[in-house]
Amino acid sequence: MVSRLDWISHAGRALQGSVRVPGDKSVSHRALMLGALADGISHIRGFLEGEDTRATAAVLQQLGVRIETPAEGERRVHGVGLHGLRGAAQPLDCGNAGTGMRLLAGLLAGQAFASTLVGDESLSKRPMRRVTDPLAMMGAKIDSRDGLPPLQVHGNQALHGIEYTLPVASAQVKSALLLAGLYAHGETTVIEPHPTRDYTERMLAAFGWPIDFEPGRARLSGGHVLRATDVDVPADFSSAAFFLVAASIVPGSKLRLPAVGLNPRRTGLLQALRLMGADIRIENPRKSGGEPVGDLMVRYAPLHGIELPEALVPDMIDEFPVLFVAAAAAKGRTVVRGAAELRVKESDRIASMAAGLRAIGAQIEETPDGAIITGGPLGGGGIESHGDHRIAMSFAVAGLIAGDPIRLNDCSNVATSFPGFLELANSCGFALSAAS
Ligand code: S3P
Repeated sequence: MVSRLDWISHAGRALQGSVRVPGDKSVSHRALMLGALADGISHIRGFLEGEDTRATAAVLQQLGVRIETPAEGERRVHGVGLHGLRGAAQPLDCGNAGTGMRLLAGLLAGQAFASTLVGDESLSKRPMRRVTDPLAMMGAKIDSRDGLPPLQVHGNQALHGIEYTLPVASAQVKSALLLAGLYAHGETTVIEPHPTRDYTERMLAAFGWPIDFEPGRARLSGGHVLRATDVDVPADFSSAAFFLVAASIVPGSKLRLPAVGLNPRRTGLLQALRLMGADIRIENPRKSGGEPVGDLMVRYAPLHGIELPEALVPDMIDEFPVLFVAAAAAKGRTVVRGAAELRVKESDRIASMAAGLRAIGAQIEETPDGAIITGGPLGGGGIESHGDHRIAMSFAVAGLIAGDPIRLNDCSNVATSFPGFLELANSCGFALSAAS
């Protein structure tokens, strides 16, 4: 249990300099899991030292995997092979991480032993039927508390492949089914209503598992082996997002964000901000570990409201809290639709953002699947983060342009995805302090 921590965000100066954000959360989780199931030792560089990814590492250690930390941001995973995990006597604690729990549910469904997956208060309220229902179709037996964690994964079930069309676009569900598919007899095919991040597919291929995939579809068969591979984790676009918005809305700002992952399934916010008039350039585009990366140069530019194209929603699913702040700072109206998934993230992000923005004088109308935000001056006030890291960091950004300080209640969960956020933000011009 982390202790409660409040922050105060004051108006800052123009943001300047170069900001190196931590490693990608999605890639870090997957690198640990595939490294654990591989034959041989995988070296991960750029690993996110966040609570979510450390929770996944701890779970794998409980399952008998040796994971060393040669240096901060590095892990050496001693793979035990596809069938080398050992059952754990204690529940496996995924902390705050939906990715950890959902992917592990798929991975554990194929083991010869039973496991119990538990999470913190927020994770314990998040829907799990989206993974347990299709896993059951594959032959898995998983009990939940009416669709919520804890998950009791029965071992020793013979899994078989299925063809499954996801009812909602979710990389976590897709990945859970693909991981179960490694243990299944026959072919597992996952079809998505809209393409989502494809790190599991790319990384399975990098670890030598035969897999066919294209945007919106992935197919693999059981019965192969994973071979240890080194993974270079790019900087997390979702963490860079806070700085992209901050520099876009604070006059005079000019920030550089080096080596950010630019997988097209993650960069919807870049397109949305550009539609709003932002000045963001990609420099030195290159490949790192098979992933597109680039240095982002962002300069202040006056933003205007937009009707957000619904097709962008899955490609920016984690960036809506900070997009709402950009919209509140923009001239005119921004309309977001087709984003009902935001209601089942670490908090109900539509409700959390609407309550917070209203508390600082913004105009926002909540809708079942989005919001209508009209830009205008922001004042100070007290904000509840609802224990949600991205809500806390988004209001830290809002504080930069607010007339009075914003008090952000309960920011300890920022460490789940972005350890060192306060220090890094202050190094480029934020004025963020811990409240006494
Ligand atoms: C993730 C997928 C997304 C995203 C989450 C990370 C992943 O969740 O919101 O932060 O690593 O696969 P959904 O699959 O539920 O959309």
